[in-house]
Amino acid sequence: MDRITEQKRQAGEYAASLITDGMIVGLGTGSTVKFFIEKLAERINREGLDIVGVTTSRQTSSLAKGWGIKLKSVDEVPAIDLTIDGADEVDTNLDGIKGGGAALLFEKIVALNSKRNIWIVDQSKYHDKLGQFPLPVEVVPYGSHQLLKRFEAADMAPTFRRLPDGQRLTTDAGNYIIDLHLAVIEHPQALAYYLEQTIGVVEHGLFLNVADAVIIGGEKLVVIER
Ligand code: 5RP
Repeated sequence: MDRITEQKRQAGEYAASLITDGMIVGLGTGSTVKFFIEKLAERINREGLDIVGVTTSRQTSSLAKGWGIKLKSVDEVPAIDLTIDGADEVDTNLDGIKGGGAALLFEKIVALNSKRNIWIVDQSKYHDKLGQFPLPVEVVPYGSHQLLKRFEAADMAPTFRRLPDGQRLTTDAGNYIIDLHLAVIEHPQALAYYLEQTIGVVEHGLFLNVADAVIIGGEKLVVIER
């Protein structure tokens, strides 16, 4: 296992230790969350924990089902006690960019219906400012080429997210992803507002004021609370 993967494993497995009997748990998406889910499934089986999972993507649903974790949709639960999710980049304010796995829309819905959100990341993702990771924007397919041109005119270096065969990637909700290559985001709140006002944008990958804590894997595991 390489160093980054080892840090993801460490953060994911530690997060599994935070789950207690009876919790409704939001299950994020990605390779770090995979370690969390595997460890959680192990605890459920070994300790007989009664846990209900609420997933953020088809990918996570099939992973969690494979491990025998009981699942409900976000609309079937009163609220989610704790969501554990990954992130693509986190800054020192605990704001982040998510959506590298194209699950940002459902991830944001689950996060906003959670009493507490914890992100699990490796050290390489923790930066002073956001923007090194391209910002995913989920857009309605109709008019998306016009939207791309608008982002180009605003110097946001947009690209459609594509599959290896060149086809545009379609999200679980049937939308496209446009990645904005911004290098650095000086004003995340203003950018979030601009994107939210743009017709055709369904959701963006700026998760501001969402994470209550971040667990960073590394030689020493670091937990930063908001
Ligand atoms: C998916 C996400 C993921 O949480 C993010 O991409 C991190 O993934 P990984 O743990 O594989 O690095 O936002 O939309």
